[in-house]
Amino acid sequence: MNKGHRGTIFVTEAEVLAQTAYPGGQFIARLRAPDCARTATAGSFVHLQCSPGIPMRRPLSILRTNATEGWVEVLYKVVGQGLQALAAAGPGDRVSVLGPIGQGFRPDPARPVALLIGGGVGIPPLMFLAEVLAHSPGIRFEPRAFFGSELPFPFEVNAEGGSLRLLDDAGIPSQLASNAGLPGCKPGFVTDLARAWVGTRPAAERARMTIYSCGPTPMLKAVQKVADEFSLPSQLCLEEFMACAVGGCAGCVVPVLVDGKRQMKRVCVDGPVFDGASVYAA
Ligand SMILES: Cc1cc2nc3c(=O)[nH]c(=O)nc-3n(C[C@H](O)[C@H](O)[C@H](O)COP(=O)(O)OP(=O)(O)OC[C@H]3O[C@@H](n4cnc5c(N)ncnc54)[C@H](O)[C@@H]3O)c2cc1C
Ligand code: FES
Repeated sequence: MNKGHRGTIFVTEAEVLAQTAYPGGQFIARLRAPDCARTATAGSFVHLQCSPGIPMRRPLSILRTNATEGWVEVLYKVVGQGLQALAAAGPGDRVSVLGPIGQGFRPDPARPVALLIGGGVGIPPLMFLAEVLAHSPGIRFEPRAFFGSELPFPFEVNAEGGSLRLLDDAGIPSQLASNAGLPGCKPGFVTDLARAWVGTRPAAERARMTIYSCGPTPMLKAVQKVADEFSLPSQLCLEEFMACAVGGCAGCVVPVLVDGKRQMKRVCVDGPVFDGASVYAA
């Protein structure tokens, strides 16, 4: 049963349709949540009750949706007991899904060269964004992905080409980085890959670029340095510890520059995607 929450966030007792395990304690779960699937945007997230015995929900970005079939997918890495319990759920089990939540990425048609820079469990919202950009009606975006991970990617890697097959199939160039010696990955940080590529592009092409990124905070700060270095606009998807995730507790606030003045913003409902220069000022 679904209950509308302010008309945009829904609570759904979602059936687990599939759960697939990947190396390094990573999982992809497909959940039946038709309202969420219909209204989710790239960068929005769900807040999941992982088991009835664990009342504190866990926030996870939405990886993929299918509005016709009424499901959403999440990709997660088990850290502690909540996601461990979620990983134990199988087809037919039910999970309470609150979502979709938050302001996602806002693709800019005036700057169609879209650099998607993702690290670790920050990759899911960028996979969603890649799909959105590849199928944007009437606008020809030129997405290009730079992904970094220290765990094997939970997607098929084209080891010779150094790319993800899913993105190859969608016509989206990708490059992979890792410090763990993974096949198909260049050694080093994903931001080094992105910086090197941007550095090869002419100024006219840079004038058409925007950076979209999600990953751990040190990576996002490094991404913002690349953005500053080449004067590129950026949209960063932040991860903060969250309690309510619907704007009520102020447990997730971060300082954000608005018109040059510092304001406290809630990552859950004012974000999680913010203008990079407003959160990590140069
Ligand atoms: C908007 C958003 C999107 C996210 N998307 C993803 C994703 O797509 N895939 C993924 O694997 N992880 C994602 N995370 C991080 C994920 O929520 C935490 O890793 C997860 O809550 C840890 O839960 P646990 O039960 O495994 O660990 P525990 O250690 O048992 O969690 C304990 C508590 O800490 C909180 N917590 C722990 N780590 C984090 C963290 N990094 N961020 C926020 N809260 C945390 C949990 O919510 C919980 O309340 C996201 C976080 C946010 C805020
Ligand atoms: S987590 Fe409660 S306001 Fe964001």
